[in-house]
Amino acid sequence: MDATIISQPEPHKLKVLQHQQYVTPEHLSPSTSLPSPLDQFQSWFKEAVEEKVQEPDAVTLATATAKGIPSARVVLFKEVDPRGFIFFTNYTSRKSQELSENPHAALAFYWREIHRSVRVVGRVEQLTPEENATYFKSRPVESQLGAWASKQSSVIEEGTLEERLKKVTEKFGNDVPTPPFWGGWRIIPDEVEFWLGKPARLHDRIHYTRTDSDDWKVERLSP
Ligand SMILES: Cc1cc2nc3c(=O)[nH]c(=O)nc-3n(C[C@H](O)[C@H](O)[C@H](O)COP(=O)(O)O)c2cc1C
Repeated sequence: MDATIISQPEPHKLKVLQHQQYVTPEHLSPSTSLPSPLDQFQSWFKEAVEEKVQEPDAVTLATATAKGIPSARVVLFKEVDPRGFIFFTNYTSRKSQELSENPHAALAFYWREIHRSVRVVGRVEQLTPEENATYFKSRPVESQLGAWASKQSSVIEEGTLEERLKKVTEKFGNDVPTPPFWGGWRIIPDEVEFWLGKPARLHDRIHYTRTDSDDWKVERLSP
């Protein structure tokens, strides 16, 4: 495997000169991919876990304002069901504000140990209060209190978070209700792409598009 080689031609400039080659034994093809990308994702996610990929559930989530100004951050993917991909967050955060005004999102998983990536584009919906409560109750008490303490994405003074955490801990103890401003989003995919790294940048890319009859069209894309 080639190493990453960098150069620093000037003190304030850094360049990447060489990146590793991807070598993978398997071959990805529309004819051998599962008919539903949600099933194909489950199969790949299980393999990522079996191959001990570090944090396979960490995924980059892209959102955009109503005017189309994008922003991206990492979140933890929690569940996939026949309808879509679920993650949890604060409903007042920047990402949630953007999803509320422009209900479309993209996900990009990258599993570097196995040279695989999955991209998702879709519409979003909030989970129901019941679904949120079920997941919230399954979290450790410290995380539950943390959700109450943090007004995610707002500017905060040094020490304020600790004060808020102390207050909510005194208020709720070990019996923490689900915050009304916290919960899950489901991304209902219209497009899913599976990418497998190959030498000389000749990667395999298999792209699923939802059809008008709610089936999936599967095509190979040029790398
Ligand atoms: C590995 C990792 C996992 C994260 N998981 C979550 C998550 O599941 N939900 C969440 O709201 N933020 C998560 N974050 C924090 C977000 O990246 C981000 O800082 C935060 O959600 C605020 O984003 P926003 O201001 O765009 O809304 C995670 C960060 C990292 C690095």
